[in-house]
Amino acid sequence: MPTPPRFFTSRTEIAGILVAELARQFGTPTFVYDAAVILERIGDLAAFDQVRYAQKACSNLAILDLVRRHGVLVDAVSAAEIRRAIAAGYSAQGDPPPIVYTADVFDAESLELCVEQDIHVNCGSADMIDQLGSRAPGREITLRINPGFGHGHSRKTNTGGRRSKHGIWRQQIAECVERAERCRLEITGAHMHIGSGTDLEHLSRVCGAMEKAAAKLGPGLKSISAGGGLPVVYRPGEDYVDLDAYYALWNATRKRLEEKFGHAVRLEIEPGRYLVAESGYLVTEIRAIKRQADNTFYLVDAGFNNLARPVLYGAYHPMSIVPEDGDMRRPEQEVIVGGPLCESGDIFTQKKGGFVTTRLLPEAKVGELLVIECAGAYGSVMGSNYNSKPLAAEVLIQDGQVHLIRRRQTFEDLVRGEIIPGQSTRTEHQDQ
Ligand SMILES: Cc1ncc(COP(=O)(O)O)c(C=O)c1O
Repeated sequence: MPTPPRFFTSRTEIAGILVAELARQFGTPTFVYDAAVILERIGDLAAFDQVRYAQKACSNLAILDLVRRHGVLVDAVSAAEIRRAIAAGYSAQGDPPPIVYTADVFDAESLELCVEQDIHVNCGSADMIDQLGSRAPGREITLRINPGFGHGHSRKTNTGGRRSKHGIWRQQIAECVERAERCRLEITGAHMHIGSGTDLEHLSRVCGAMEKAAAKLGPGLKSISAGGGLPVVYRPGEDYVDLDAYYALWNATRKRLEEKFGHAVRLEIEPGRYLVAESGYLVTEIRAIKRQADNTFYLVDAGFNNLARPVLYGAYHPMSIVPEDGDMRRPEQEVIVGGPLCESGDIFTQKKGGFVTTRLLPEAKVGELLVIECAGAYGSVMGSNYNSKPLAAEVLIQDGQVHLIRRRQTFEDLVRGEIIPGQSTRTEHQDQ
């Protein structure tokens, strides 16, 4: 189990590279990922038969390529995520399936792609069984089960229970088995992803529910998946889950199923956040400092268009200042950190419910850099063009080498595809 990190409010480097140099070379805001952290996290999960990366956490092709080269398979939740996996070098087919499409619905494109490329499907609704069965009988499928309860670091990330739209309701399993038989699909796997931020007490309930569900699915079962949800440490005082105990619970479940079925059952885990959250840093520049009443604001050039977790969940991210003069012992003050968007919720220091809070950070001046840390998961992937802001650049540092893995969007990228009625599709700025 990893040791919780110590957080510092000043820093000069990321993965041995000067932050000031990264900002000079790539501009701000820029996401910077430390490959070594991702590889360490993959290593932590070596006990599982298979780690399958939930790429929704950070789906840059370079990150997918990195995890692929280290034995990690991939989960996809849309047609474009399937295409990303293929573009990053994953084969469409294999045993275990290199790419699994997990969703509660097929849109037209994802169904077509799964049929055409023979992508393994993890069905989260009974309708998906019929839709795939009518197009591609004979395939193996997995069922994502909703065991009737959930868990999550926020109500918005709870993915089980009566009011969750995810997965096949536990009492519908028998009906799904019949549907699969009717359309000649073979159910070979069971999957549960109950929510982010799993703890062990809760996990034992999940394992019990998996055992019951798997028993209903029968001996055709070749794999079970523990889903994602492994927490990471975002702030002092938090801890990682005990991975040995986590594995032991799942392994015991798997062993009991193996005994029951008389054959081996593969145990997969499907983390997103755990693999990439701590590898990522959002490097921003302080563009204004406001003092009003007794509040001090550091206004940076990144907003919730770059990192939406605070506005969505009231999520806490560690932050640090990059002091230009190298003074790591500046006096600290309580500040509110916000972005440039024309939106009052564009605040990085906020709690659940949108309550603005403060953070103790070193005194700083306009033009200095501020780093928002633990930003690798659900950061750049949730980026938007709100206020016509371009998507940030992304940079990967590996073995001391700095690689640009996504260039910052340009204005042309931003308006590509927009059409003014009555004008030719080439707009004036494109002709320049
Ligand atoms: C099906 C599934 N698997 C895995 C994950 C990854 O979750 P986490 O990033 O918390 O590990 C998610 C997240 O929403 C998910 O929906």
